[in-house]
Amino acid sequence: MAMAVSTTDVSLPPLVDGFGRRHSSLRISVTDRCNIRCFYCMPAEDVVFRPRRELLTFEEIEQFVRAVAPLGVKKLRLTGGEPLVRSDLDRLVAKLVAVAGIEDVALTTNGMLLAEQAAALRAAGLERINVSLDTLREDVFKQITRRDGLSRVLAGIEAAQRVGFERIRLNAVAIRGLTEAEIIPLARFARLRDLELRFIEFMPLDADHHWSAGQLLSGADVRRILEREFGPLIPAERPDPSQPAVDFRFADGRGGIGLINPVSEPFCGDCNRLRLTAEGQLRNCLFSTVEWDARRLLRSGAADQELRNLTRSCVAAKAAAHGIGRPGFHPPERAMYQIGG
Ligand code: 5AD
Ligand code: SF4
Repeated sequence: MAMAVSTTDVSLPPLVDGFGRRHSSLRISVTDRCNIRCFYCMPAEDVVFRPRRELLTFEEIEQFVRAVAPLGVKKLRLTGGEPLVRSDLDRLVAKLVAVAGIEDVALTTNGMLLAEQAAALRAAGLERINVSLDTLREDVFKQITRRDGLSRVLAGIEAAQRVGFERIRLNAVAIRGLTEAEIIPLARFARLRDLELRFIEFMPLDADHHWSAGQLLSGADVRRILEREFGPLIPAERPDPSQPAVDFRFADGRGGIGLINPVSEPFCGDCNRLRLTAEGQLRNCLFSTVEWDARRLLRSGAADQELRNLTRSCVAAKAAAHGIGRPGFHPPERAMYQIGG
């Protein structure tokens, strides 16, 4: 009988796609549900969520991660929908940080439930948190999210700082005609509280399919607005080229800004990311039109090797770039909340 080989101490050939990009980062959506309704992501009403039985269990997610970690997947990010509406998320965090080869587990949240959960997440071993914050004004918050709740988000950020999370990052989606006046207040807020701040261009991933190029407030526009107020932004080193943000420091040395420009300056050439949707479908891009069914394998008792083969097929099929704005581009059928940000 062959010796059983533990998958935790062998490393296998890495996940390299047809363009030489090595994949080491996995974004895991844990639910498509959300407690707010950002217009750039979800429909306003009549949202149809996946039934609970279709979502991967924590055990299934863990099994998938254990299977692919030996392929060089090192970084995990939990997303949604809103990941904190999935109960006991700290239990999943604890399972994932314990997987051999996983170096970093992070979370992207809208912050609404963070005040209640920050301490448990920290205790479970979560390394880093990104909080979505597009505005500091309650009326603009409501226009964007169609809900009240800015004060809860701010309390969540404060709680995360209090329990000891370092390098908390704020993500602000920039939207022309709506958030220009939010940029300076957000930058002041982040500088004052030692938070990192990144502006993200609005991508065509809204459920309503209302995105138009006219709503794009580009990274270059955001930079101009910031520079009028704070003086020249100084380009910062890029320690990790697969990181989508272009980073800048303020001239006075206090804090910095990242600009994520997926539309005006696509960074697909350095992409190292894979995605697992809440119901266990693997995607090689936010804008994929094809998915690979990991849940079917997980639920049919497949061996780790089969999960790895599936993941390799998914990576091998990755396109060179998303092609937003090119003739023939179509946004994916799924909206952001159904994919995982
Ligand atoms: N374009 C850009 N960013 C988006 N997000 C959600 N939808 C979009 C979109 N259409 C952001 C959220 C969050 C992260 C998960 O993605 O604000 O910060
Ligand atoms: Fe919820 Fe995030 Fe989508 Fe906003 S962007 S509706 S917070 S999942």
